[in-house]
Amino acid sequence: MRRPLLPVVVDAGPPAGFDGKLTPGEALRDRFARSIRYLRVSVTDRCNFACTYCVPDDGVEHKRKAELCTFEELERIVAVFADLGVRRLRLTGGEPTVRAGFVELVARLRRVPGIGEVVMTTNGHRLAELAGPLAAAGLAGANVSIDTLDPTRFAELTSGGDLARVVDGIDAASAAGLAIKLNAVALAGVNEHELAALCEFAWQRGLVMRFIEHMPLSSGDLYSARRELSASTIRAAVSEVFGLLEPSPVDRGIAGPARYWRLAARPEREFGIISAMTEHFCAACNRVRLTADGQLHACLGHDDAVSLRDVVRNGGRDDDLRRAIAWSVQGKREGHEFQRSGEGAPTKHMIAMGG
Ligand code: GTP
Ligand code: 5AD
Ligand code: SF4
Repeated sequence: MRRPLLPVVVDAGPPAGFDGKLTPGEALRDRFARSIRYLRVSVTDRCNFACTYCVPDDGVEHKRKAELCTFEELERIVAVFADLGVRRLRLTGGEPTVRAGFVELVARLRRVPGIGEVVMTTNGHRLAELAGPLAAAGLAGANVSIDTLDPTRFAELTSGGDLARVVDGIDAASAAGLAIKLNAVALAGVNEHELAALCEFAWQRGLVMRFIEHMPLSSGDLYSARRELSASTIRAAVSEVFGLLEPSPVDRGIAGPARYWRLAARPEREFGIISAMTEHFCAACNRVRLTADGQLHACLGHDDAVSLRDVVRNGGRDDDLRRAIAWSVQGKREGHEFQRSGEGAPTKHMIAMGG
């Protein structure tokens, strides 16, 4: 039987006496020699869409405003991460742009010494209006979800999303100078016949399409119907239309788990696959995630968390935050166990984790 490494949620940080390694570098190196350089920060657990694969059938209970980290608390937590060696911040949700004052938050986090890049992941619904202000605030890029090019299917999948508006947002964000990548969760019976069309859509705009294997974090009907498409099926579908593929070796700096491919005949035409289920990437993991209420999750696939918000609210000093972070990183599991069900399986939903 597996011994749990951490209690599920600790309200006030690590137990007294935890002898964490608090120096930069050491604090963010885990037991499997992985170095954390990338922090995903969920700034809200709310969303103006409700995608079937992200929100469970019976909905989710949202956090109260008082439970969310304030901007000051986020700045302080991010500053400690930066001090320890984190360089890249990805702001997520729910949908990050529904957090009041989001543009100001971007500007504030961008100014934290040591943070080299702030990017976000968005559904694109507010992007047309916010692209300019966000670029001015220092946002470097956005990953935008676009699962289908069929407006009716898009509205169904997202519970009311307007595809044309999202496309306008993508174009406005590119025009504003944001580095845009596109995300689609690949699902049998939903968008499996659109993979090549989605690639074309991205390439016409000089962008990269990424296909994501569905992860079982939601009890949504799409998951229970087992509609995942595997990475090899995705590659075969793209190759069938565009010919031979080859791995794309471009250095992307501090990046997420996507592996990139390109057309052998047209190497400028790239796409990515995030294959959490069939081709593990946990061994190369470089990130941890903070939920909107300040819980630090060292792995997306486990419920283990420590509340950094409570360390701050209980009057903790920066050293206490460093210790809590080091403790969480030391407890980071070797990988997810999404295949597992019942006891030990993750109970959090994607909308609360931000991906
Ligand atoms: P960049 O590579 O930095 O552009 O970002 P990213 O691909 O990590 O971020 P994005 O928010 O666009 O996430 C795309 C998909 O990757 C989402 O489905 C995330 O849930 C998934 N993802 C990101 N990081 C992890 C991770 O550490 N583990 C797993 N299993 N999935 C992840
Ligand atoms: N599995 C895989 N990806 C998911 N996303 C949301 N829910 C899931 C899931 N269950 C994706 C969104 C978005 C990113 C934040 O995570 O489509 O691109
Ligand atoms: Fe919202 Fe993104 Fe989840 Fe869709 S995938 S419900 S846009 S957070």
